[in-house]
Amino acid sequence: MKNTDWRQNRCRVKALLQAEESHGEVFVQGWLRTVRSSKGVAFLALNDGSCLDSLQIVVGSDSEAFEVASRLGTGSCVGVRGKMVASPGAGQSWEVQGDEILVYGDVDENFPLQKKRHGFDFLRTIAHLRPRTNAYGAVFRVRSRISHAVHTFFQERGFVHVHTPIITSNDCEGAGEMFRVTTLDPENPPMADKRIAWHDDFFGTKTGLTVSGQLQAELFATAFTDVYAFGPTFRAENSNTSRHASEFWMIEPEIAFADLADNCQLAEDFFRFMVAYALEHCREDLEFFNQFIDKGLIERLEKVVETDFQTMTYTEAVERLQQSGQAFEFPVEWGCDLQSEHERYLTEKIVDGPLFVTDYPKGIKAFYMRNNDDGRTVAAMDLLVPKVGEIIGGSQREERLEVLEQKMKDFDIHPESLDWYLDTRRWGSCPHAGFGLGFERFLMYITGMENVRDVIPFPRTPGNARF
Ligand code: 4AD
Ligand code: MG
Repeated sequence: MKNTDWRQNRCRVKALLQAEESHGEVFVQGWLRTVRSSKGVAFLALNDGSCLDSLQIVVGSDSEAFEVASRLGTGSCVGVRGKMVASPGAGQSWEVQGDEILVYGDVDENFPLQKKRHGFDFLRTIAHLRPRTNAYGAVFRVRSRISHAVHTFFQERGFVHVHTPIITSNDCEGAGEMFRVTTLDPENPPMADKRIAWHDDFFGTKTGLTVSGQLQAELFATAFTDVYAFGPTFRAENSNTSRHASEFWMIEPEIAFADLADNCQLAEDFFRFMVAYALEHCREDLEFFNQFIDKGLIERLEKVVETDFQTMTYTEAVERLQQSGQAFEFPVEWGCDLQSEHERYLTEKIVDGPLFVTDYPKGIKAFYMRNNDDGRTVAAMDLLVPKVGEIIGGSQREERLEVLEQKMKDFDIHPESLDWYLDTRRWGSCPHAGFGLGFERFLMYITGMENVRDVIPFPRTPGNARF
């Protein structure tokens, strides 16, 4: 970070604390985390979000600013002019002797973020204020850096970034979890043959918010070879778990001339790059998580960067679970969808690290996955990681027109509704593969935060869309 930023003479706290030598007179702006004052001196901890640490401002009773300083409360917003000096106190390199204080925004005693540590449950109810705490400050700085890392990884490898649509008329995952987008009057919709006349709706057809950008990313892969989408995704799935949000962000690469093994390799390289990036660029914040949220986090992340991920077929995973002797709430048998208790057991107890599970039964996976020659499985892969469970879902895609048409019929999808998708199989089809990484799940993994609601700025979950 540069020493001064674009606002002349204003110094960001991070740059100031990292400075090699004193800048002399400085001007800083931010929000007060704590205020301690006695007769002779006032100490203000000023945070501007640039880093975890706050800057200590010392105002002596001989300073003109003393009177203002001693009546300020936690949470107020101020600008301080003063001299930057080496700090005699432990834990910080520099402090500022405050000469002048501008008060931009006062507080009263009802400001909810007083000194005591609050639980995440409570902080979620004040999502408009929680970014001003240490934990959420760290989370959202990491989120910002890591979203940059996503682009760095793919752009350096020549992938083209595609903005896939948010409003769409197709349900990629076929799970019927789409939010409807309409301008029809819900109390008095136009009718035709006793049914709602969707052709009279804004787009002339039934539309909703996208559940995945994959199908459109596939189209672009047949022109640019390697592409990725990174955008918001919406699912009206009524599951109130710590891992499901109704609005979340997904990173979806799609690669032409690739099979399932290539896909897993890309996922592994990408995953490891992102973890290494966080270790390098978000160190201070990760150390905070390591100390207060999840002891052992950094060691686990460092290990992941070093080790190769393991792979197991679904069939083998089912056998291993059955042989484990573990009593699961949902019994395991070939053909069932793996529940999160099974996924966690595999990745935490059986391999103790990231695990690709591949080649799932075709009946429990989406229509677009490529049929394997055994006639009963598809070239699918899920990446499972300790503590989070499924973090990536992907597959090789069915590129053979007749096979894909038959699969759509088996899944009750009208081929006419996806004629444009089928066209890519008609003209210049190619083997290709891709996956989706849930961005919030990844953030949970690298921060140790245990609830998806705590890694997205303003979570949307069933019954909750405030802020
Ligand atoms: O496994 P999913 O449903 O896969 C797809 O949507 C594919 N079309 C992706 C592709 O191949 N391009 O979702 C992918 C990932 C999951 O592994 C999970 O990490 C995350 O998205 N995810 C969610 N994250 C938060 N809240 C939810 N409700 C999520 N649903 C999926
Ligand atoms: Mg999945």
